[in-house]
Amino acid sequence: MSKFNFEEETTREGTFSIQYEGTEPLFGRTGLAPFWIADMDIKTPQAITEAMKRRLDNGIFGYTIWKNSKFYGPVKQWWNSRYNVDLTDDMITYAPSVLYTVSEAIRLNSEKGDGVILNMPTYNAFLKVLKGNDRKVVPAPLIEESDEYSFDFEHFETLCSEPENKVFVHCNPHNPTGRVWTREELQKMKDICLANGVFFVSDEIHMDFVRPKEEFVSMVELMEEDDPIIVTTGLGKTFNLASLPHSYFITKNDALKAKIVREFDHRYNVGTANSLVLSAIEAAYMECGEWVDELNEHLEGNFDYISDYIDTHLSAYLSFKKPASTYLAWISFEQCGIPDDVMHKALVDIGGIAVSPGHIYDVAENGRFRMNVASSRQRIEMGMERIHKTIDGLKKDGKI
Ligand SMILES: Cc1ncc(COP(=O)(O)O)c(C=O)c1O
Repeated sequence: MSKFNFEEETTREGTFSIQYEGTEPLFGRTGLAPFWIADMDIKTPQAITEAMKRRLDNGIFGYTIWKNSKFYGPVKQWWNSRYNVDLTDDMITYAPSVLYTVSEAIRLNSEKGDGVILNMPTYNAFLKVLKGNDRKVVPAPLIEESDEYSFDFEHFETLCSEPENKVFVHCNPHNPTGRVWTREELQKMKDICLANGVFFVSDEIHMDFVRPKEEFVSMVELMEEDDPIIVTTGLGKTFNLASLPHSYFITKNDALKAKIVREFDHRYNVGTANSLVLSAIEAAYMECGEWVDELNEHLEGNFDYISDYIDTHLSAYLSFKKPASTYLAWISFEQCGIPDDVMHKALVDIGGIAVSPGHIYDVAENGRFRMNVASSRQRIEMGMERIHKTIDGLKKDGKI
């Protein structure tokens, strides 16, 4: 018997949500049914909103210290209870956002023009950050076979051995494919990076979304004293808090930690915590484990629904493999044999749906789109009907 209601109808009216009101730049128009940017049409657990309300009632939101037991304690508790990982205070550092840390780790470990290795497909903001920091994107394509993705270690080793490639930004679990990496794979990646002097950044923001039968292994478990490795994560995805900027990173490399903290504190003067976020973190990590478990079961049901829908109605045109993690369905339309832009235009014009075009996660076309499934079942049904309508329209127009 479910304790939480993930079927509740939600609204973002009047909230200036990018998901609903910000579709123009990528999709050319507004008024679409949105299933794209990675935030949820599911409310943050009540325990968190209540904790933030209590904090709001105090009425004073002055500069706030994050180095306190109400931050460290909940973070340690979460990692211990969920992942059996024992952290110590000195391994954990609060930071303004995950991408902020990724960006700083890149800047501190490479020079302009140096190469940064990214798996392809990749989380699109990594491409943006590399461009913004004048670093070269070095693609390390994942091997894809029947919608299953694996790591090409041979190619990765060659890339790491090239002296101009200084950093590897890894995504675990992987956005957009949802791949969860095994301990053995992580160890191999680490060994190759360390042997070649390549700095390892592990973005683990999707860590809490592993399917009920999957196991998440963090790079933290493989870290040894002074390893050139940083893990960055936060609560933005898990508890739908993306507009409350925050994150934290974990490292056993004190010199690196000191350098990053110096950047926050002295270069940008952003070394204080968001007071509402501190209350949210405490409530989330101390009280909301059961909510996350039930959310994962709800997402599992949504993925099953999509899988069945495609098998029943659209298997000649689409293929989809349920991911081991995330709330993102990475759907292939390769069987349609049409260019990416034709499919994406049809999804917007015929289906009236905003799903993320696959090519924004890549340096080439990939015949895929990414659908955000963190919604009520009813919304997912509506989304699948719109995708169905798109395929019917393309058939009618003789395009497929
Ligand atoms: C892999 C990954 N990292 C980071 C982020 C964003 O994190 P932040 O807003 O803290 O920079 C996202 C959001 O979609 C993501 O998917």
